[in-house]
Amino acid sequence: MGTHRDSPAARAALGRVVVSNDQIARRIPELARQIVAAAGDGDDDIVLIPVMTGAFIFAADLVRCMPVRMRITLATISSYPGTSTTSQGIRPLGDLPGNLKGRRVLVVDDILDSGRTLNFLREQFMAQRPAWFATAVLLRKTIPPAMSTPCEFVGFDIPDEFVVGFGLDYDGCFRNLPEVRVLHPEGRA
Ligand code: IMP
Ligand code: MG
Repeated sequence: MGTHRDSPAARAALGRVVVSNDQIARRIPELARQIVAAAGDGDDDIVLIPVMTGAFIFAADLVRCMPVRMRITLATISSYPGTSTTSQGIRPLGDLPGNLKGRRVLVVDDILDSGRTLNFLREQFMAQRPAWFATAVLLRKTIPPAMSTPCEFVGFDIPDEFVVGFGLDYDGCFRNLPEVRVLHPEGRA
Protein backbone atom coordinates (compact mmCIF):
# COMPACT_ATOMS: atom_id res chain seq x y z
CA MET A 1 0.00 0.00 0.00
CA GLY A 2 1.38 3.40 -0.94
CA THR A 3 2.18 5.77 1.87
CA HIS A 4 1.64 9.49 1.63
CA ARG A 5 5.32 9.90 0.79
CA ASP A 6 4.94 7.59 -2.20
CA SER A 7 1.99 9.48 -3.67
CA PRO A 8 2.37 11.01 -7.15
CA ALA A 9 2.06 14.45 -5.62
CA ALA A 10 4.89 13.74 -3.16
CA ARG A 11 7.19 12.67 -6.00
CA ALA A 12 6.36 15.69 -8.15
CA ALA A 13 8.87 18.54 -8.30
CA LEU A 14 8.00 22.20 -8.25
CA GLY A 15 9.52 24.23 -11.07
CA ARG A 16 9.84 27.92 -11.87
CA VAL A 17 7.35 30.57 -10.84
CA VAL A 18 5.05 31.38 -13.76
CA VAL A 19 2.99 34.09 -12.03
CA SER A 20 4.10 35.54 -8.71
CA ASN A 21 1.85 36.36 -5.80
CA ASP A 22 2.65 40.06 -6.30
CA GLN A 23 1.59 39.95 -9.93
CA ILE A 24 -1.67 38.26 -8.96
CA ALA A 25 -2.31 40.73 -6.16
CA ARG A 26 -1.93 43.64 -8.60
CA ARG A 27 -4.02 42.07 -11.36
CA ILE A 28 -7.09 40.98 -9.40
CA PRO A 29 -8.32 44.49 -8.48
CA GLU A 30 -7.96 45.54 -12.14
CA LEU A 31 -10.03 42.57 -13.27
CA ALA A 32 -12.61 43.27 -10.58
CA ARG A 33 -13.03 46.87 -11.76
CA GLN A 34 -13.45 45.75 -15.37
CA ILE A 35 -16.01 43.13 -14.39
CA VAL A 36 -18.06 45.51 -12.26
CA ALA A 37 -18.07 48.09 -15.06
CA ALA A 38 -19.11 45.50 -17.65
CA ALA A 39 -21.86 44.00 -15.50
CA GLY A 40 -23.43 47.45 -15.16
CA ASP A 41 -26.41 48.19 -12.97
CA GLY A 42 -29.26 45.80 -12.55
CA ASP A 43 -32.32 45.36 -10.37
CA ASP A 44 -30.93 42.12 -9.05
CA ASP A 45 -27.73 41.02 -7.37
CA ILE A 46 -24.95 39.60 -9.51
CA VAL A 47 -24.74 35.81 -9.31
CA LEU A 48 -21.11 34.79 -9.08
CA ILE A 49 -20.37 31.13 -9.72
CA PRO A 50 -16.89 29.91 -8.74
CA VAL A 51 -15.98 26.56 -10.29
CA MET A 52 -14.80 24.28 -7.55
CA THR A 53 -12.30 23.41 -6.46
CA GLY A 54 -9.58 25.25 -8.35
CA ALA A 55 -11.24 28.69 -8.37
CA PHE A 56 -11.69 29.02 -4.63
CA ILE A 57 -8.64 31.19 -3.95
CA PHE A 58 -8.99 33.39 -7.04
CA ALA A 59 -12.72 33.84 -6.37
CA ALA A 60 -12.11 34.69 -2.72
CA ASP A 61 -9.72 37.49 -3.67
CA LEU A 62 -11.81 38.68 -6.62
CA VAL A 63 -15.12 39.04 -4.77
CA ARG A 64 -13.49 41.11 -2.04
CA CYS A 65 -12.49 43.62 -4.75
CA MET A 66 -16.05 43.86 -6.12
CA PRO A 67 -18.05 46.35 -4.02
CA VAL A 68 -21.45 45.30 -5.39
CA ARG A 69 -24.31 43.17 -4.11
CA MET A 70 -23.79 39.59 -5.14
CA ARG A 71 -24.80 36.05 -4.37
CA ILE A 72 -22.16 33.37 -4.55
CA THR A 73 -23.22 29.91 -5.71
CA LEU A 74 -20.66 27.18 -6.23
CA ALA A 75 -20.53 24.84 -9.21
CA THR A 76 -18.42 21.72 -8.88
CA ILE A 77 -16.84 20.32 -12.00
CA SER A 78 -14.23 17.62 -12.03
CA SER A 79 -11.98 17.68 -15.08
CA TYR A 80 -8.64 16.17 -14.05
CA PRO A 81 -9.46 13.25 -11.81
CA GLY A 82 -6.45 12.05 -9.81
CA THR A 83 -2.99 12.25 -11.31
CA SER A 84 -3.86 12.87 -14.96
CA THR A 85 -2.45 16.08 -16.40
CA THR A 86 -4.38 16.04 -19.64
CA SER A 87 -8.06 16.81 -19.90
CA GLN A 88 -10.20 13.71 -19.38
CA GLY A 89 -13.54 15.29 -20.14
CA ILE A 90 -15.69 16.99 -17.56
CA ARG A 91 -18.18 15.82 -15.02
CA PRO A 92 -20.46 18.11 -12.98
CA LEU A 93 -20.75 16.89 -9.40
CA GLY A 94 -24.24 17.61 -8.13
CA ASP A 95 -26.75 20.09 -9.53
CA LEU A 96 -25.56 23.22 -11.31
CA PRO A 97 -26.90 26.59 -10.08
CA GLY A 98 -30.39 27.41 -11.36
CA ASN A 99 -32.78 30.42 -11.34
CA LEU A 100 -30.50 32.49 -13.57
CA LYS A 101 -33.19 33.86 -15.90
CA GLY A 102 -32.76 37.63 -16.21
CA ARG A 103 -29.83 37.66 -13.80
CA ARG A 104 -26.30 38.96 -14.29
CA VAL A 105 -24.06 35.90 -14.07
CA LEU A 106 -20.28 35.60 -13.77
CA VAL A 107 -18.56 32.21 -13.85
CA VAL A 108 -15.10 32.24 -12.24
CA ASP A 109 -12.52 29.52 -12.93
CA ASP A 110 -8.83 29.04 -12.22
CA ILE A 111 -7.53 28.19 -15.68
CA LEU A 112 -8.70 27.92 -19.27
CA ASP A 113 -7.06 24.94 -20.96
CA SER A 114 -9.06 22.74 -23.37
CA GLY A 115 -12.06 25.04 -22.95
CA ARG A 116 -14.34 22.11 -22.16
CA THR A 117 -15.31 23.41 -18.73
CA LEU A 118 -16.19 26.96 -19.76
CA ASN A 119 -17.86 25.92 -23.01
CA PHE A 120 -20.00 23.43 -21.12
CA LEU A 121 -20.96 25.89 -18.40
CA ARG A 122 -21.66 28.71 -20.86
CA GLU A 123 -24.04 26.44 -22.77
CA GLN A 124 -25.75 25.24 -19.58
CA PHE A 125 -26.17 28.70 -18.09
CA MET A 126 -27.07 30.55 -21.32
CA ALA A 127 -29.95 28.09 -21.69
CA GLN A 128 -31.41 29.72 -18.56
CA ARG A 129 -31.44 33.12 -20.35
CA PRO A 130 -29.45 35.34 -18.01
CA ALA A 131 -29.58 39.11 -18.70
CA TRP A 132 -25.76 39.23 -18.76
CA PHE A 133 -23.27 36.39 -18.79
CA ALA A 134 -19.47 36.41 -18.63
CA THR A 135 -16.61 34.18 -17.59
CA ALA A 136 -13.41 35.13 -15.77
CA VAL A 137 -10.27 33.03 -15.38
CA LEU A 138 -7.05 33.73 -13.53
CA LEU A 139 -4.96 31.90 -16.15
CA ARG A 140 -5.28 30.99 -19.80
CA LYS A 141 -2.90 28.68 -21.62
CA THR A 142 -1.77 30.11 -24.95
CA ILE A 143 -2.92 27.10 -26.96
CA PRO A 144 -5.49 27.22 -29.80
CA PRO A 145 -8.39 25.52 -27.95
CA ALA A 146 -8.04 27.93 -25.02
CA MET A 147 -7.53 31.04 -27.15
CA SER A 148 -10.60 30.23 -29.24
CA THR A 149 -12.86 29.63 -26.22
CA PRO A 150 -14.99 32.68 -25.38
CA CYS A 151 -13.80 34.20 -22.08
CA GLU A 152 -14.41 37.85 -21.23
CA PHE A 153 -11.88 38.33 -18.42
CA VAL A 154 -8.40 36.77 -18.34
CA GLY A 155 -5.85 37.44 -15.62
CA PHE A 156 -2.72 36.06 -17.28
CA ASP A 157 -1.83 34.26 -20.50
CA ILE A 158 0.71 31.55 -19.73
CA PRO A 159 2.69 28.95 -21.73
CA ASP A 160 1.34 25.42 -22.23
CA GLU A 161 2.78 23.74 -19.13
CA PHE A 162 1.10 22.01 -16.22
CA VAL A 163 0.96 24.49 -13.36
CA VAL A 164 -0.02 24.35 -9.68
CA GLY A 165 -0.63 26.81 -6.88
CA PHE A 166 -3.11 29.61 -6.12
CA GLY A 167 -5.91 27.03 -6.17
CA LEU A 168 -4.58 24.75 -8.92
CA ASP A 169 -3.73 21.21 -7.90
CA TYR A 170 -1.92 18.09 -8.94
CA ASP A 171 -3.46 14.96 -7.42
CA GLY A 172 -5.24 17.21 -4.91
CA CYS A 173 -2.03 18.89 -3.67
CA PHE A 174 -0.29 22.26 -4.04
CA ARG A 175 -3.46 24.39 -4.07
CA ASN A 176 -2.12 26.38 -1.13
CA LEU A 177 1.03 27.67 -2.88
CA PRO A 178 0.78 31.48 -2.91
CA GLU A 179 2.10 31.67 -6.49
CA VAL A 180 1.65 29.72 -9.73
CA ARG A 181 4.50 27.32 -10.53
CA VAL A 182 5.31 24.74 -13.17
CA LEU A 183 5.04 21.18 -11.90
CA HIS A 184 7.27 18.36 -13.04
CA PRO A 185 5.70 15.04 -12.13
CA GLU A 186 8.39 12.35 -11.88
CA GLY A 187 9.39 11.14 -15.33
CA ARG A 188 7.84 14.14 -17.09
CA ALA A 189 10.39 16.81 -16.18
P1 IMP B 1 -10.44 22.85 -19.43
O1 IMP B 1 -11.84 22.36 -19.24
O2 IMP B 1 -9.56 21.87 -20.16
O3 IMP B 1 -10.34 24.25 -20.00
O4 IMP B 1 -9.74 22.83 -18.05
C1 IMP B 1 -10.10 23.60 -17.02
C2 IMP B 1 -9.84 22.87 -15.73
O5 IMP B 1 -8.79 21.90 -15.82
C3 IMP B 1 -9.40 23.88 -14.72
O6 IMP B 1 -10.50 24.34 -14.00
C4 IMP B 1 -8.42 23.09 -13.87
O7 IMP B 1 -9.14 22.51 -12.80
C5 IMP B 1 -7.88 22.01 -14.75
N1 IMP B 1 -6.55 22.35 -15.30
C6 IMP B 1 -6.25 22.68 -16.58
N2 IMP B 1 -4.94 22.94 -16.73
C7 IMP B 1 -4.38 22.77 -15.50
C8 IMP B 1 -3.03 22.91 -15.00
O8 IMP B 1 -2.06 23.27 -15.70
N3 IMP B 1 -2.87 22.66 -13.67
C9 IMP B 1 -3.89 22.29 -12.85
N4 IMP B 1 -5.15 22.16 -13.27
C10 IMP B 1 -5.41 22.39 -14.60
MG1 MG C 1 -11.21 23.28 -12.30
